[in-house]
Amino acid sequence: MSNPFSLTDEQAYQRWRATRLTRPAPSTARLRVRVQHPAAPSRAELAAIGARIASDGMALISCAPEQLDAESLLALGRALGLRRTEANHFADIQAVSRITPVEGRGDGRGDYIPYTDRALNWHTDGYYNPPDQQVRAWMLFCLQPARAGGENQLLDPEIAYIRLRDDSPSHIVALTHPEAFAIPAHVVDGQVLRAESRGPVFSIQQGRLHMRYSARRRHVCWRDTPETTAARTALDELFSRETVFTFTHRLAAGEGLISNNVLHNRTAFAPATQRERARELLRIRYIDRVNPDSWTV
Ligand SMILES: [Fe+2]
Repeated sequence: MSNPFSLTDEQAYQRWRATRLTRPAPSTARLRVRVQHPAAPSRAELAAIGARIASDGMALISCAPEQLDAESLLALGRALGLRRTEANHFADIQAVSRITPVEGRGDGRGDYIPYTDRALNWHTDGYYNPPDQQVRAWMLFCLQPARAGGENQLLDPEIAYIRLRDDSPSHIVALTHPEAFAIPAHVVDGQVLRAESRGPVFSIQQGRLHMRYSARRRHVCWRDTPETTAARTALDELFSRETVFTFTHRLAAGEGLISNNVLHNRTAFAPATQRERARELLRIRYIDRVNPDSWTV
């Protein structure tokens, strides 16, 4: 059977590559799906979301801001086949995280960049998770944007894979190595809050490309080989310039992104004044991916 991700099946790769690069670049107009009631999306709305994610890895959802709450988003996720949530340290009991600056509140969240107003570098979510808890999809909905800043850029890992493989197949060999990069255990006062995470950047899971990546410099241990270093440099170069496949968007209140864990970053944003409401987003991560092929209509 042909496999575009096999380095020995160049024909299959070239066919898949050509199909992927033929699709138009992502844009607000292309990715946007309007959803009347996220708690009970229509078949047509679900089909439109599924089509965008199958094609571009992500969809941009527009709802009325008052329709957005944790229960509605969990229901929307279930309707898309997303059942297994991934609860990180600061998520609530339903695995919903409220992403808002909390500096100075003293619960530890302020030590993590997502909970500050600082810029977030390129990453996929959950790159520090163990192999059986990889994040394969997430949704991020905006309740309140910042006065300025807080813009996201997103890039489908399929495009990153193509750019790297075109540059040199040896980058793919290095980045699919099972020990390509590791995040050391997070230990506080002798207590292991999160075990070490070691694994590949690119892996193929049920025939689909999965990417685990962080551009951060600190607390990341890359495999020490010339090939890995060259592949990292190629990744840095990829992110140093926008490609036509980079989607840039600043979420307004009522808008959200749903993706099969595409690469993304965030610019810094203006802190709220005393009279302003702080920037606030709801985020849910999933072990499942959005897989419209498996839907029965
Ligand atoms: Fe993220």
